[in-house]
Amino acid sequence: MNTTTTVSTDFKLQLGSFYVEVWGCQMNVYDGGRIRDLLTAAGFSEVSSPKDADIVVLVTCAVRAKAEDKVFNQIASWQRTGDITKDTIVALGGCVGSELAEKILDLNKSVNIIFGPRTIHRLPQMISEFASTHKPVVDVTADAIDKFDSLPDAGPVGPSAFVTIMEGCSNKCTYCIVPYTRGEEQSRPLQDILDECVNHIANGVKEIHLLGQNVNSYHGLNPDGSICNFSTLLYEVAAVPGVERIRFTTSNPMDFSDDIIEAVQKLDVISDQIHVPIQAGSDRILKAMHRRYTAAQYIELVNKLRKARPSVHISSDFIVGFPGETDEDFEETMKVVNEVKFDQSFSFVYSIRPGTPAALLDDPISKETKMERLYRLQKRLEEIASEYTQAFLGTTQRVLVEGISRKDESELKSRASSGRIVVFKGPTSLVGQMVNVKITSVVAHTLKGEIVNE
Ligand code: SAH
Ligand code: SF4
Ligand code: F3S
Repeated sequence: MNTTTTVSTDFKLQLGSFYVEVWGCQMNVYDGGRIRDLLTAAGFSEVSSPKDADIVVLVTCAVRAKAEDKVFNQIASWQRTGDITKDTIVALGGCVGSELAEKILDLNKSVNIIFGPRTIHRLPQMISEFASTHKPVVDVTADAIDKFDSLPDAGPVGPSAFVTIMEGCSNKCTYCIVPYTRGEEQSRPLQDILDECVNHIANGVKEIHLLGQNVNSYHGLNPDGSICNFSTLLYEVAAVPGVERIRFTTSNPMDFSDDIIEAVQKLDVISDQIHVPIQAGSDRILKAMHRRYTAAQYIELVNKLRKARPSVHISSDFIVGFPGETDEDFEETMKVVNEVKFDQSFSFVYSIRPGTPAALLDDPISKETKMERLYRLQKRLEEIASEYTQAFLGTTQRVLVEGISRKDESELKSRASSGRIVVFKGPTSLVGQMVNVKITSVVAHTLKGEIVNE
């Protein structure tokens, strides 16, 4: 049940405005949106620049060292430009919040409040406490279900809505900090997720994007106390009146079971884009990463998915230069890339994350070698993705119109089932609708086209 947080009237008058900056993954985007809902419901008003804000809220990412550094560089830069002054209340949350907790107070003296992904719902109280004591407030641990239970209903978000179905991760891949920043995996009860979807649909949403670090292992409670798995959740969300498209991120290959593949086959509302990170193509490296599947098992999964849904577009994440990755190991990754033919994917050089098991491993590979490997991988991934892009020419795509194009106000921006952005000329009354567009040209990976009558 949702409860609205109350803040004293005096406090509201003193601290009127807030600004939220979000870095990191879609789960942070979801959390950032919920923070906006929460602070607005508590009586604060949102502004679009830190300069105009009494409270600056940072939702941060710790997945790679660069992401973490960026946060502190940004705060320092705002201090230099005067966007943040000694009177601004700075609340740092997200994964860096829970990773570093109290240590942040030594790293940057202007941070006043530290929260984590699981304590966003307590932010109004933390702000209130800081305003009355002027002492730093640190609160980073909580039960994930408490978080969801304590948030107000989401406000309008446009035609596509993120819905987090689980929090945390218990897989403990050896390179990854997420299990330590978001905590052990916890699934939300089925009914809460469905209620959130119904609320979004009432606000004009057509596409539900289910989020979790490992959505395939979803195991939330049914109203009768039994366990609901991910495939059942997909059928339940698809049955919500008004849901026209479902996306889900991220899938772990290890838990992509046959019942989920069957749901992809049976439910047309599931989008064609399926993101299943492989990370590496060498079994030796996958084992050292604690990924619990082999390259052959991954390829078998892709083949099954393509059989179930021939139009599927598989995308992936890759880590290059995991400690001890040899040239031969890397060639195994390139082999899988050429065999699977991934669509648009993400790839990164391994970044050491203090406190993770891989941080203790010897890493004799030079940075140069790692960069060369990344360059080769990205070049090949890009070539293959371009082949997919070209293949859209002349096809008709059913797209969800998300808004007006930022580059050209006479054009609408939409998204196809494959995840590709489709731009076309049309009236703004189509925003929020699903329409058919014939693809007539491509620019980089963006598709351009014209509406066709159904
Ligand atoms: N739960 C998802 C991944 C979430 S993190 C999964 O298991 O697929 C998003 C991506 O960041 C990962 O897929 C991985 O490719 C990358 N990543 C995570 N830790 C990293 C590290 N230490 N160095 C480089 N990339 C990393
Ligand atoms: Fe990190 Fe692995 Fe969990 Fe993904 S599955 S969040 S990579 S520990
Ligand atoms: Fe980053 Fe945390 Fe997401 S580390 S990738 S914001 S789960």
